[in-house]
Amino acid sequence: MKPPEFYRGREQTYLKHFFLEKYLERVAWNILSRRDEFVYVDGFSGPWKSEDDALEDTSFMIALNQLRKVRQGLKERQGRNIRLRCFFNDNNEQAYRELEKAVSAVDDIEIKALCRDFEDVVPEIVEYVGRSFSLTFIDPTGWTGFGLQKIASLLALPGEVIINFMFDYVNRFLDDPRPEIAATFDPFFGGPGWHLEVGRHTQMGYSREDAILNVYRDRLREIGKFPHSTSTRILKPLTERSYFHLVYGTRHWKGLVEFRNVEKKAIDEQEHVRDVAKITHRVDRTGQTELFGKRDEILGPRSSDEERNRELSAAHAKLQEILSTHGSCKYETLIGEILKNPLVWKSDLDSWLTNLRKAGKIEIPALIGRQRTPKPGYSIIWKAN
Ligand SMILES: C[S@@+](CC[C@H](N)C(=O)[O-])C[C@H]1O[C@@H](n2cnc3c(N)ncnc32)[C@H](O)[C@@H]1O
Repeated sequence: MKPPEFYRGREQTYLKHFFLEKYLERVAWNILSRRDEFVYVDGFSGPWKSEDDALEDTSFMIALNQLRKVRQGLKERQGRNIRLRCFFNDNNEQAYRELEKAVSAVDDIEIKALCRDFEDVVPEIVEYVGRSFSLTFIDPTGWTGFGLQKIASLLALPGEVIINFMFDYVNRFLDDPRPEIAATFDPFFGGPGWHLEVGRHTQMGYSREDAILNVYRDRLREIGKFPHSTSTRILKPLTERSYFHLVYGTRHWKGLVEFRNVEKKAIDEQEHVRDVAKITHRVDRTGQTELFGKRDEILGPRSSDEERNRELSAAHAKLQEILSTHGSCKYETLIGEILKNPLVWKSDLDSWLTNLRKAGKIEIPALIGRQRTPKPGYSIIWKAN
């Protein structure tokens, strides 16, 4: 994909593409190591505000290039040939014409492209994907056109989904009393009742942002029959406010581990591109080209550090609660629960378990010899109360 400088003024798009590129590589590699086929579905594929003649700053082109890379890697390392298929859709005629032109030149990956409303095209996508494993990327311009009930059959496929939850817009319009706006949120959340649920979450102490996201992620889990859902936050380039969240649904705890691993890279990238954006903005505004001092003195503390510390405390408390309530828990069950928290990595869970074991609060009977980290299937047994 294009470097961050290419996305100046739209750093959030760079970060979205960075995440997509890195995550797609991981999921395609993992799936294709076991299966012979992988399908990528881009329901709102664009091109949208592209500034590159070769469209290398679009999600569908980034996906095609990344899938080629995975195929090449598998061929070199495992000598295997695999099948890649893509489904691209955009309901805008101009965008579709550009999409069609770009993909008509592609002859090494099977592609189906349509120009329809995403919700209407779901049956065709379901048929196209069939029994293959798919990653579906839903990247809208607002909160309409992908109602959870309308796309339930797509969500239920044996694959995963990443949805761009446009928090900034949703938050601005969620309490809008105009009936034509208010009516759009029931489909978005997959049915009525979300308002009360958001209220319940805020009463439990969650911020409005977390409460809204909790409800959406719960609904996605329920309607998409995903055992796991989580999200990662993309900030506005120049302020500490959220632009959007990439919400993720997966059927396997390993998906959560991969998602968080990519988040770890994306967070550093986010801090870096936002630093550059802030400094560039300051220079443009003040004309002062030399800024002296340490990074934190110029720009303040990294916003993700504070957020990560909050998530770590919450996840650590959750770990102790799960173990003390259940008495015994499989390692993968703990991964599934703990890595739902944004910015909490598997290495955090592993070091907490090591410390709890050292403190005599838990036992992991299957650990032998010098082994420190549990493996899937190992039981973690709570001893202290
Ligand atoms: C944010 S842009 C997608 C950008 C693209 N995913 C990327 O990262 O390069 C959203 C696209 O969705 C299209 N769109 C909006 N509503 C739609 C709908 N209901 N069904 C299908 N496409 C839609 C728009 O024409 C626009 O091109």
